[in-house]
Amino acid sequence: MLGPASETLQESGRSSFGGRRSQVREKHPASQNSDRLDAPGYGTRDRYHRLVSLSQDERIIGACFVGLAAHPRNGTAVARVSQTGIIPVHIISRISPIRIISRITNFLLSDKRTRRIIDRIRNRLGILVRSDFPVFSPESGGPRKDLAHLTAKAASQTFSFLVRLLELTTSEPFENPVPLQTFADTENARYAAATLKHLFDKYEGDKGWNNYHHVYGTILQTPNTITDILEIGVGTNNADVVSHLWPTARPGASLRAFSEFLPHAMIVGADIDKRILFEEKNIKTFFVDQTKLETFDLLASRVNRKFDLIIDDGLHAPNANIASLIFALKYLKKDGWFVVEDIQSSKLPLWRVVSKMLPDDCKSWIVDCKPGWFLFVMKRSGTS
Ligand SMILES: C[S@@+](CC[C@H](N)C(=O)[O-])C[C@H]1O[C@@H](n2cnc3c(N)ncnc32)[C@H](O)[C@@H]1O
Repeated sequence: MLGPASETLQESGRSSFGGRRSQVREKHPASQNSDRLDAPGYGTRDRYHRLVSLSQDERIIGACFVGLAAHPRNGTAVARVSQTGIIPVHIISRISPIRIISRITNFLLSDKRTRRIIDRIRNRLGILVRSDFPVFSPESGGPRKDLAHLTAKAASQTFSFLVRLLELTTSEPFENPVPLQTFADTENARYAAATLKHLFDKYEGDKGWNNYHHVYGTILQTPNTITDILEIGVGTNNADVVSHLWPTARPGASLRAFSEFLPHAMIVGADIDKRILFEEKNIKTFFVDQTKLETFDLLASRVNRKFDLIIDDGLHAPNANIASLIFALKYLKKDGWFVVEDIQSSKLPLWRVVSKMLPDDCKSWIVDCKPGWFLFVMKRSGTS
C-alpha cells in the first residue's frame, strides 16, 4: 500500500521518481515562470530555492525519507530516490513529523548494529514484536498496530480452529472432560489417594488442594509395581523464576510425598532453577529447561531409565508441555502414565488437538479436577 506522499505522486501523473526528476528540471524557476510552482500544495518559489541550495548529502537524506514514505516496505525505493538528487519539496512538507520519525526508525532498523542495540533494549523492557511470533504473524503489510493485534489473534485462535478442522476431518468426536470420579474407582485406588492426599498436605504441596490425589491414587494403586517416577518442576521459591511458589514454600514438596509413599522407587525431579536442585534418600534432581529439547536428551542420558509415571508441573506453557510429551513418548514404560497438571479451560483446545495426535498404543483423558482446572492424563498400553 502506498502512503500519502506516493498518492501525491500518482495524482500528478508520475509513475517513478525518475519521472519526477525530469519534471523538476523543466520547472526550474531560474529558467521560467511556472504556475505549478505557485499552486497550492505544490510549494513556493522560496521553498524551491531552498531545496536546490541543499548540499548533495542533505538531498540524499531528504530523499531517503521521501522514498521510504512512498514505499514503506520497498527498500530499493530508497536508492532510486536518492539518485534523483532533487527533493520534491511539496512531498516533504506533507509528511507529518510522526511519519518521518517512523521512517527514520525503519531506516535505522535495517542497520545490523542499531538492530542489536534495539533488541537489547527490547529484551530488557520485555517488549515483544511481530518477529517474535513468526508462526502467527500475518505475511502481509499494513498498519503496525493492526498487524500486532492480528498476530496475537492468530496465536489465540489457531488451536481452537484446529479443533474445528479436526472435527470436520476425523470421524470420532472429541472426548469431553471426564469427572474425577472416573478415577479412584477401586478400593485400592481410594486408599492410595487418601494416603497421597495426607502426604501432599504434610509436605505442603498443592496436589492435594487441587484434588490431583484421586488421579495419582489410581495410577499408583499398586505401589510395589512402581519403580521410577519423574516430575518436571521441583518447586522453586525464588521469585526471579517463572512458575515459582510462595517465598516460604519448600522446594521438592511433591517429590518428598512420592518418596515417602514409594520408599523403594527412584524419584527423579527436573527443574530449570539449578539453585534448588537436591539429592536425598531415593530422590535425585537434575536440570531441565522445557523450552530446550536438548536438555531432555541430557536428562535421559544422565538418568538412563524409563518411567512408570512422568508428571509435567513445570512452566505450564503449551510448548513446554509438548516437549515433556515428546520425552514421555520416548521414556514411558509399557503401562506407564503421563500427567500434565494445572491446565485451565482456555488451554483445552490444545489438549483436544494433542489427544488426536497420540500413537495408537496411548489413551488419554482430560480430567475435570475443580472448576476451571484440568489434568491431561495419558496411559501407554501394556502391549506396545
Ligand atoms: C509449580 S512449581 C512445581 C511444584 C512441585 N511440582 C510441587 O508440586 O511441589 C513449578 C516449577 O517449574 C519450574 N520451571 C519453570 N520453568 C521451567 C522450565 N522452562 N523448565 C523446567 N522447569 C521449569 C520452576 O522453577 C518451578 O520450580
